[in-house]
Amino acid sequence: MKRLEVKKLDFAYGRNQILFEFDFSLEESQIGCLLGPSGCGKTTALRAIAGFENPTKGEIILNGNKLNSSKIFVEPEKRQIGMVFQDIALFPHLSVKENIQFGIRSLSQNLRDKRSNELLDLVGMSEFKKKYPHEISGGQQQRVALARAMAPKPSLLLMDEPLSSLDEELREQLAREIRLILKQEKVSAILVTHDQNEAFAVGDHICVMHQGRVQQNDSAYNLYHHPLNRFVAEFIGEGTLLPGVVADEGTIATDLGEIKGNLPESCKHQDKVDVLIRPENVILANDNENKVVITARYFRGSSYLYTLKTNSGAEILCFLSSSESLQIDQSIGVQLQIEKPVFFSRS
Ligand SMILES: Nc1ncnc2c1ncn2[C@@H]1O[C@H](COP(=O)(O)OP(=O)(O)OP(=O)(O)O)[C@@H](O)[C@H]1O
Ligand SMILES: [Mg+2]
Repeated sequence: MKRLEVKKLDFAYGRNQILFEFDFSLEESQIGCLLGPSGCGKTTALRAIAGFENPTKGEIILNGNKLNSSKIFVEPEKRQIGMVFQDIALFPHLSVKENIQFGIRSLSQNLRDKRSNELLDLVGMSEFKKKYPHEISGGQQQRVALARAMAPKPSLLLMDEPLSSLDEELREQLAREIRLILKQEKVSAILVTHDQNEAFAVGDHICVMHQGRVQQNDSAYNLYHHPLNRFVAEFIGEGTLLPGVVADEGTIATDLGEIKGNLPESCKHQDKVDVLIRPENVILANDNENKVVITARYFRGSSYLYTLKTNSGAEILCFLSSSESLQIDQSIGVQLQIEKPVFFSRS
């Protein structure tokens, strides 16, 4: 049995439909991420699962029990769902330990102490248990918030951008820690983020959303290497779409030469397509006749990310070691190296 199943959820604020047939599921102890640009409906989806919003259509099933359908609505406090938000909202007048114990007040003193000590240990906050929220850092506060939400052993933990107020370095580190903590507690959880590195660090699978619709729910690897549509191709990782035309021999002719690949039968001669070009597909080849002009350059530490323009004005990206500094407006020869092209037809 799945831990969570969300089936074809529609939701609207008044006349404004926000979610369209939103599908999502989680196995026991699995961590899923909702990833997408601002306003795509991530928080709304989470709020619907938590019971703060009532969907117009669809079903939410947790541990085999329907929480939502046309006839059923289980109140949020009866759903056994824990939540962690971006604005941490610890109780300022309670110590770290008392914050963690808040949701298990009804347990005996003994059990409460046992559980809170266990969690203090798990999130690495034992030595701060007597401190108050204003006496600890943002990252530490977020760990306490996580422990507080996990204390009652919820069936499902929902986290809405819990790390977005932290600086980037701490964010990645804490994202990895959160994954370990959730896995140790064997919690099933959903993390909402618009930061793909965070989603890659935390999620077993990642649901990419755009304008209220699920675009692809998949592993990070598949999202990067086998994007199902243009949106996912451009949203995940770095890359651009290079126009091409299907040639006779089942190859794609582009400004930068022919790209070979197993084209499906549906691809006909002269069909117009766009091929996904990742920076790692572009190799510097000075003798090559396929020339591009450098239009922009971004320092990335060990490498520079270059934006290159082809003869017909298409853009591609390319990484080169930062010891090899090329100049804007310089013309260079490049070669494409693509094993299995990902492409989308263009009407
Ligand atoms: N209370 C509300 N009333 C009306 N419209 C709302 C309300 N809350 C959100 N919306 C709209 O619903 C859409 C989705 O919002 P939502 O907060 O789910 O996006 P999000 O993906 O969480 O974005 P972000 O990454 O910025 O947090 C947006 O267009 C937003 O303007
Ligand atoms: Mg949001």
